[in-house]
Amino acid sequence: MTPDTHTTPDPLLAWRDQFPILSETTYLINNSLGAMPRAVYDSLRAYAETWAARGIRAWGEGWWDMNVELGNLIAPIIGAPPDTISMHQNISLAQGILLSCFDFDGPRNKVVITGGIFPSVYYVLRGLLPPHVDLHMIPSPDGGNTVPVDQIIDAIDERTLLVPISHVLFRSGTILDVGPVIEKAHAVGAIVILDGYHAAGIVPVDVTALNVDFYLAGVLKWMCGGPGGVFLYAREDYLKTLEPGLTGWMAHQRPFAFEVENIDFRADAFRFLNGTPAIPSLYANRPGVEIIAQVGVDNIRRKSKHQTALLIDLAEAAGYEVNTVRSPDERGGTVTINPPHAYEVSRELIARNILIDYRPQAGIRVSPHFYNSDDEVRLVITAMQDILDGGAWQQHTSGHAFVT
Ligand SMILES: Cc1ncc(COP(=O)(O)O)c(C=O)c1O
Repeated sequence: MTPDTHTTPDPLLAWRDQFPILSETTYLINNSLGAMPRAVYDSLRAYAETWAARGIRAWGEGWWDMNVELGNLIAPIIGAPPDTISMHQNISLAQGILLSCFDFDGPRNKVVITGGIFPSVYYVLRGLLPPHVDLHMIPSPDGGNTVPVDQIIDAIDERTLLVPISHVLFRSGTILDVGPVIEKAHAVGAIVILDGYHAAGIVPVDVTALNVDFYLAGVLKWMCGGPGGVFLYAREDYLKTLEPGLTGWMAHQRPFAFEVENIDFRADAFRFLNGTPAIPSLYANRPGVEIIAQVGVDNIRRKSKHQTALLIDLAEAAGYEVNTVRSPDERGGTVTINPPHAYEVSRELIARNILIDYRPQAGIRVSPHFYNSDDEVRLVITAMQDILDGGAWQQHTSGHAFVT
């Protein structure tokens, strides 16, 4: 999997061969689904061969521990100690597992959230929090593209139990300065759950330095790991104390004793597991994680800052609204561009094999990764101009795609 990095002026472009879709498309939608590494073919073949040849014995030969072993490959990428990360199907369920750990009947019954929260996370909060909980929303002034961090800090008080907020906002790629939020929360005894789905693999994250309580993210996007690979980091003290209500036999110290009355929780990442994990996902998730670890998030970030700046400059020169912060340190890997007829332009870009996506109230999200060239970045803007000038956008005015 190690490419020859000496043949090109941008050494990261040497990775392109490892991602089949890059030869077929201009792949600029890495904040939604990272490109599939070629090695996934072998990985999924290994899954099938293990199941076929080893059958039930596979559980004792690796499958039982595979979940937390993948977490251990992710751990150094986000500055987490070993055995603190468990893998889950998706963020919505992982949030549900965390919420099931807390008692909202005491004097601490306030939960601080922000505008720009991913709707699925909000649905889970609204669905699982008892009705008396004060779900305190800090509004976004611009439809979720930014959030005033000082207002989050002010809202956290002695009544606050949880602060489940995004680290990087999904519409605009804005990075929130979460350090002071965590400090304030801890000063008053509140707990922070960061949703870093738009950070992991593109923005350096150090959960230990942040001293954050919980960090949720996934390998689907910037880590090129595919669906079904969301991770839940829990600070080590919680691995000894919290008792999730949404649990299962994998969290038990002696699962094969089949004790019904009591659950004797493990004191590592298994504590947050429940039932049988989706083993095929874990096989598929792994190659992307290994590549990101090898490339290094600092290298990825350096290139990303350059390419997002290039995108902003070109989009502004073309006269398009840009809903992404200009300060490179506050900007994640996505640039959200809102040209006229943005939805229709997005459909035509996709028809031309330039893969991006569209989010209402924001625009077209363009998210280059380490394997993209500057020429590809330029192409998306010239294509937008061509689509608008030539009128090709008008082919997409009737109807609205279900997946955008
Ligand atoms: C910030 C953020 N949180 C949560 C989700 C939803 O996650 P899931 O589908 O894994 O529940 C997304 C989806 O893209 C997201 O961007």
